[in-house]
Amino acid sequence: MSRYSKVRGWSEMIREVLMTQRMPPWHADPHYGVFSNDRSLTLKEKRQLLSWIDAGCPRGEGPDPLEQAYLETRQSSAEKSDWTLGEPDHILKMCQPQQIAANGVFPYVYEVVAAPIKEDVWLKGVDILPGNRSVLHHCLVFIKYPKGSPWEKENNEGGLKGCFAGYVPGYSPRFFPIDTGKFVPKGSKFIIQLHYTATGKPEEDDTKVGLYLASQPPQWELKTKSAFNTEIKIPAGAKNYTTAGEYRFDKSAVLYELNPHMHYRGSWFRYILNRPDGSSETLLSTPNYDFNWQTTYRLADPIAVPAGSVLRCEGGFDNSSQNPFNPDPSQSVVFGEQTFDEMFIGYFSFAESRVPAITVSDGDSEGSAD
Ligand code: HEM
Repeated sequence: MSRYSKVRGWSEMIREVLMTQRMPPWHADPHYGVFSNDRSLTLKEKRQLLSWIDAGCPRGEGPDPLEQAYLETRQSSAEKSDWTLGEPDHILKMCQPQQIAANGVFPYVYEVVAAPIKEDVWLKGVDILPGNRSVLHHCLVFIKYPKGSPWEKENNEGGLKGCFAGYVPGYSPRFFPIDTGKFVPKGSKFIIQLHYTATGKPEEDDTKVGLYLASQPPQWELKTKSAFNTEIKIPAGAKNYTTAGEYRFDKSAVLYELNPHMHYRGSWFRYILNRPDGSSETLLSTPNYDFNWQTTYRLADPIAVPAGSVLRCEGGFDNSSQNPFNPDPSQSVVFGEQTFDEMFIGYFSFAESRVPAITVSDGDSEGSAD
């Protein structure tokens, strides 16, 4: 939108993407939840934009404000760092840039990087800077707590049960919510998982991870966990194959973010919070899930979760030929890493009281850290 004539030139396409609900990219049903990063337009805004296009995009008087804004943005972004949140305190780098072949299907790449920190620290944020967005499909970062430490049982290196940080299409970096942080004990390592998809020409990628130190320990520890189900077997052609996964909160918590994850056959996804008092609340419903937009839905008002609550994720897959994204309706599909396989994972970020930081009980480690 660098000048009026450009927007006018795009106006018919703007009408089309608004009418077909391709833009703005936002998939939450407005009946459930309020989200601080809601990108949707109100009905009034949509009407105003469409009426302006219908009227032939009248220009108005005076200098073009878009031209001025564009010049200013270009000037300020040239002066800014590549890191949206500013220069990190520490940067995790791969041993060497990854070389990605022109064609093929690639297994995930894993790089293990020692934390460049000699003491226990709290982070106020983590950012991932993709080296080459055209070929990097996603990047997840896991923390590997030191061997023999009380946190070792929390290690989780595949992404199924949560992650330390992640970059996916639609990602926008930001610092952790106020008074929360992620803990990195000394001696920790980070595992960087990279998934590449071929572009038709050889590519190089040098993705980096930025760590931002908190100036003092926060009140709450932030965690990213998930409710998932790997036991999925979607028959060929099935129009609405449903599944569900659950996560039990053993400690009281405050919920901040929700991030549904399925692949191309993903059709709809819901998060339902069942509290121990018997009450139940739908926190998020995406009736038309879109794999190309891996949105993290940030709750405008974080939700208090009493101990004993169960967060239930429900979802459906459309493996029929009516799903335009379906790679092959004639195949039955099971859980797997590639986008032509399927996944069912409902990620969420929540804060738990920090002290003691984490001491692991003898029982089931998943969610039972106390
Ligand atoms: C009123 C709001 C918006 C309008 C009218 C709009 C309009 C458009 C149009 C006309 C296209 C080109 C479509 C094509 O060539 O097929 C497009 C593509 C795109 N837009 Fe938007 N957009 C809006 C909001 C957003 C927002 C908020 C984001 C990012 C968060 C976004 C990200 C993209 C991307 C990544 C593409 C290229 C991928 C694609 O074609 O699906 N747009 N948009």
